[in-house]
Amino acid sequence: MKNKKFYVTTPIYYVTAKPHLGSLYSTVLADVAARWAKLQGKKTFFLTGTDEHGQKIAQAAEKVGKKPQEFVDSFIPAYKTIWQEYDIDYSAFIRTTDEHHKKAVQECVTKLLQKGDIYKSHYSGWYCTPCETFVTGAEEVAETGPACPTCGRETVRVSEESYFFKLSAYQDKLLDFYTNNPNFVTPKERIKEVVSFVKSGLQDLSISRTTISWGVPFSQDSEHVVYVWIDALLNYLSGIGYGQQDKEQEFNYWWPANLQILGKDIVRFHAVYWPALLMALDLPLPEKLLVHGWIKVGDQKMSKSLGNVIDPEILFENYGADAVRFYLVRAMAITHDSPFSIDDLERHITTDLCNDLGNLLNRMITLAHKNSLYEVHAPQNWSEKSIDLRDQSWTMVQDVANYMADCSYHMALSLVWRYINAVNSYFHEHEPWKLAKSNPKLFAEVISATSHSLYTIAVLLWPIMPQKMAQLLQALGHTLQLEHNSIEHLQNNPWQQIFMLHQTPPLFEKPKEREMQPEEQKDSTPVSNDIAIDDVVKVELRVGQIVECEEMTKSEKLLKMLVDFGECGKRQILAGVKKFFSPETLINKKATFVYNLKPRKMMGLESHGMMLMAEDSDGNLKLVEIDQSVPSGTRLK
Ligand code: ME8
Ligand code: MG
Repeated sequence: MKNKKFYVTTPIYYVTAKPHLGSLYSTVLADVAARWAKLQGKKTFFLTGTDEHGQKIAQAAEKVGKKPQEFVDSFIPAYKTIWQEYDIDYSAFIRTTDEHHKKAVQECVTKLLQKGDIYKSHYSGWYCTPCETFVTGAEEVAETGPACPTCGRETVRVSEESYFFKLSAYQDKLLDFYTNNPNFVTPKERIKEVVSFVKSGLQDLSISRTTISWGVPFSQDSEHVVYVWIDALLNYLSGIGYGQQDKEQEFNYWWPANLQILGKDIVRFHAVYWPALLMALDLPLPEKLLVHGWIKVGDQKMSKSLGNVIDPEILFENYGADAVRFYLVRAMAITHDSPFSIDDLERHITTDLCNDLGNLLNRMITLAHKNSLYEVHAPQNWSEKSIDLRDQSWTMVQDVANYMADCSYHMALSLVWRYINAVNSYFHEHEPWKLAKSNPKLFAEVISATSHSLYTIAVLLWPIMPQKMAQLLQALGHTLQLEHNSIEHLQNNPWQQIFMLHQTPPLFEKPKEREMQPEEQKDSTPVSNDIAIDDVVKVELRVGQIVECEEMTKSEKLLKMLVDFGECGKRQILAGVKKFFSPETLINKKATFVYNLKPRKMMGLESHGMMLMAEDSDGNLKLVEIDQSVPSGTRLK
C-alpha cells in the first residue's frame, strides 16, 4: 500500500525576494520526481512553500519600512505566478505564517517539553542572520565574533535565555540510523560530512529566541518565539495535516516523505536536526534526501544575499518553460555545482531540442502526410533493424527507470538522448523519402517504428517537459493515461500501437532566430484612446543619460546603449533607431525612458527599458530630450 504513494518536498524559501533560478531548480526537480511517480500510477503529494519568520525576514522588512507580514505577503504572488508559468504542479503551498502551521509548531513544542526533550537555559554565543544559524564552538575571546563557517559573513553576539533541544541525546541513534539506512542521503558522498559532524559530538540546540518577536510564540512562555529553523522544518509535517484533528488520517497516509529535495547549503539541518526532531516526536524518518549542488554564476553560488541571481521570469519569456526545465535537469549535474550560462542554454535548446527531437517529429509527419499516410499501423513482421531499435528502446526504458528511481535525472536524460540519436540514425539510414515510392511497405514500417520510438520518448520526457510532450503525443494521436503505470506499459510495449499523425507547429524554436521585431507601424493617423489614471501611473517614465552607445553589427535596426538612471543604476537598453542616429550623436544625451517595461531579449541580448521617440510625418525619429539640469533617474509625472 505505502509504495503506491509518493510524498515529495522542496525547501521552503525565505521570502526576502522573488524566486530565482536556484529556487526554481529545486522546485523543478521536485516536480519532475512527482510527475515521474504519477507516470507510475502512484498517488502523489508535492509540497512547496515559503519560510516567513525569523530575524532575517524581520530585518529585511524593516529596511524597506514594511511590517513583516505585509513584506512577506508582497512576494507570494510572484512565487505563485512563476511556479504556474513553469508548470509546477504542487499539491499544497505552505506558508509558515499559516495559522494551521503555527498551531502544529506549538503542538510539537508542547510534546517535546512534556517528554523532557526541551529544557530552559541560557544561550551565549554568535549568530549568523543570513543563515539563521547559531555558530557554536567558536572562541569566546574576540569582540567581533567569528565569521559564519557556512557563508563567511559577520556574526552577531546573542546572549539570552533560551530553550534547548536535547540534540546530544540523539547522537548514537543518528549514527545507527545512518549505518542502517545507507541510502538515506543521495548522493552517497554527502552523508560522509554529516557522519563526521555527528561523530565530532553534538551539542544541544538552542531553539528559541527572546530578542526577536517575528516567529511562532511558545504557548507556555510568551517571551519566547520558536527558532526559525525548527519552525521551518516542521512545515513538512504541517503541510500534510499534522496537528489538525480532521486531517490525522491524511497525515498518516502521506508521512513519512519518500523524497525531500534540498541544496547542499542546508544538509546539516535536514540530515541531523530534522531526523533527531522526528525521533523525539516518535515519527518515522523520511526515506530519502536528495541533496543537490549549487547553480553558480562565475565562481559564486547564485544567491539572493549575494545579489547575483538570474530571474526565471526573463528566461520563461525568452525560451519558454519546458526548454528551461529541460536545461536545468539536463545540464546541471545534481551531484556537483554547475555553472549557468545563457550561451550553454541556447546551445542545448538548438541541438538537443530543435535539431535532435523537434526536427525528427516534423520531418516524419511532413513526409508521411506528403505520401498520404495519416493512420499508421504496425507491420505484420518487423524487419531486423526495426527490431533492433525496439530492443534498444526496451533496454533504455529500463535503464532510465533505474536512474530516475535513483534521482539521477541528468543521467536518465542523457540515455534518452542517446536513444533519440539512434532513432535519427535509423530514420535517415532508411532514406524514407526514397522508399515512399519504391517500397511503400517498408516506408510505412519506418514511420511506424519512428512513431513508436517518439511515443516512448514523449512518455519518458513528460515529467521534464509536460507541455511539449503533451504536444508531441497529440501529434501522434495519443494522450497520456495517468491511471495506469505508464512505465510498465512502455517496458511491455509490444509495438502494436496505431498512430494518427497530425501536423503540429515546431515543438521548439531556435533562440538565435528570434530577433524581436520593433512593433509594426500600421497606420500613421493619430489616434487617441482615452485611458484611466490607473493606467497612467502604471507606466514609470524616468530620465536617463546615455553613457555608452554602439551599433549592433548583426542587426539592421538596433543600437545598444548603456543608460545611467542615477540612483536607480545603469541598464542596457536596445533601441531600433540605427537608421536615424549615429551612436556618437546620442552619447551624453538625456532622454526619457519607460523604466518599468519587462526586460526583453533581442538578438541574444537583454534590453531593459524603452526609449521614447517622437515620429514626424516623414517617419523620422527625434529624441524626446530633456534639460541637462534634470538629474538622471528623475521620475516624470
Ligand atoms: O535555506 N543553486 O531558504 P533559501 C541551487 N528557508 N539551488 C539553490 C541555489 C543555487 N544557487 N540557491 C538556492 C532556506 N537554492 C530555508 C530553507 S527548509 C525547511 C528551510 C535552493 O531561500 C536550494 O534548494 O535560502 C537551497 O537549499 C534552497 O534554495 C535555499 O533556499
Ligand atoms: Mg539561502
